[in-house]
Amino acid sequence: MQPNTTVSLAQDLTAKIATRTAKIGVIGLGYVGLPLALLFTEETFPVTGFDIDSRKVKTLGEGGSYIFRIPAEQIQGALRQGFRATSEYARIAEMDAIIICVPTPLNEYMEPDLSFITSTGRAIAPYLRAGQLIILESTTYPGTTEEVLIPILDKNNRAELRLARDGMPSSTQEFYVAFSPEREDPGNETVARRDIPKVVGGCSVAATEAASALYNAIFKRTVKVSGPAAAEMCKLLENIYRCVNIALVNELKMLCLRMGIDIWEVIAAASTKPFGFHPFYPGPGLGGHCIPVDPFYLSWKAREYDFHTRFIELAGEINTAMPYHVVQAVGKALNRERKALNGSKVLVLGVAYKKDIDDLRESPSLTIIELLQKEGVEVSYNDPYFPFVGKGRHYDLQMTCASMEDLGAYDCVLIVTDHSTYDYPRIVREAQLVVDTRNALKGMESPKIVRC
Ligand SMILES: NC(=O)c1ccc[n+]([C@@H]2O[C@H](COP(=O)([O-])OP(=O)(O)OC[C@H]3O[C@@H](n4cnc5c(N)ncnc54)[C@H](O)[C@@H]3O)[C@@H](O)[C@H]2O)c1
Repeated sequence: MQPNTTVSLAQDLTAKIATRTAKIGVIGLGYVGLPLALLFTEETFPVTGFDIDSRKVKTLGEGGSYIFRIPAEQIQGALRQGFRATSEYARIAEMDAIIICVPTPLNEYMEPDLSFITSTGRAIAPYLRAGQLIILESTTYPGTTEEVLIPILDKNNRAELRLARDGMPSSTQEFYVAFSPEREDPGNETVARRDIPKVVGGCSVAATEAASALYNAIFKRTVKVSGPAAAEMCKLLENIYRCVNIALVNELKMLCLRMGIDIWEVIAAASTKPFGFHPFYPGPGLGGHCIPVDPFYLSWKAREYDFHTRFIELAGEINTAMPYHVVQAVGKALNRERKALNGSKVLVLGVAYKKDIDDLRESPSLTIIELLQKEGVEVSYNDPYFPFVGKGRHYDLQMTCASMEDLGAYDCVLIVTDHSTYDYPRIVREAQLVVDTRNALKGMESPKIVRC
């Protein structure tokens, strides 16, 4: 009878995790990967971060930070603890657990772009060794781990090395794979990252157990599911739930505007119900790397099953229309002052996709700025987190942050992102006209204020 080596390799890994000697590699040192690497470092694990962006690797190596909410001192502390960043994939061979946190955007046809996952898989494969645990954290459609990542890892140039599966004879040449979605909510200070339960689904019981043991070292609780597909779908359900509910409340806001009802007052009142209602808030459109993007990962995959995800499509339609609604509202507000959009000066407050964060991805502000410019508006912006906005995946603005000094010089100040640092009473006092898309001026009354 063959010895149960699956258990012993997995047990070996679990023992290393328990003694904090398991070497952890985090691939992709962005908004998700870097904080994760720091959490493991704080927990005294030896951590190596991998990134293909040599500027990031250099900044970290010099004790600097490129993420606003992570102070340089935290990086310096991590370096003292032994954290290192590198672009050298050969070092993957030294790692016991490898966590992949690379981007999963949409391409120009709104289809999943898995190129970052596939290139990461190809970069890891030559250095894969028995006993290693690979965890994918990037948000993606159900099936990615099994159908995309594993086939790449399987082509690892070592015939004997193979994925551990339940029901298959165990071997001393096994590696483990799991999926565990990242659930962080940037800028949300109400829940500590450690308190967010971590969902894990492995390709085998041993993989799920090992991944769970690893995350239990830094999170208070893990939630084990039957496999990677359930974990992948769990993340999409969470984000689609938000996307659809935000669309619903955006639609109701537009109706309320027509009916002369304050949607914010309505939401506050509805929120007093102790059960069956969770508040979502309207805004200028969806932003960020997740909520506007992830639902389309599922719509795309659903087509393979001859299935149309109508809620997702409808929510996408409503949310995508919101920046257009904002531009129309600015036009109406200016019209009231006997001014046209064409030739007016508008100061957009906030370009980050939500308050108090330094992330521009998919921000509705960028679309609003471009739409205003198309109407002949002379647009300026202010955002304490962005001294300059250049070129990105879907925009090319090349604009420098305007000062907040002379607010009266603009025909309209448009609040798109309600950063906490803004002095809203002063804005209302000094601006000629203020259009508020976020209820930032809650409780303030002035003929200058237009809520949209
Ligand atoms: N940002 C969030 O709040 C958030 C929340 C939940 C889930 N997610 C998901 O997490 C994943 C990562 O998102 P993010 O916001 O951290 O992205 P990011 O763009 O901030 O960081 C990704 C990093 O991966 C690096 N990278 C790309 N390809 C690489 C490769 N082959 N090898 C090594 N490094 C590589 C990039 O240089 C970058 O530094 C995405 O799937 C996203 O949907 C993000």
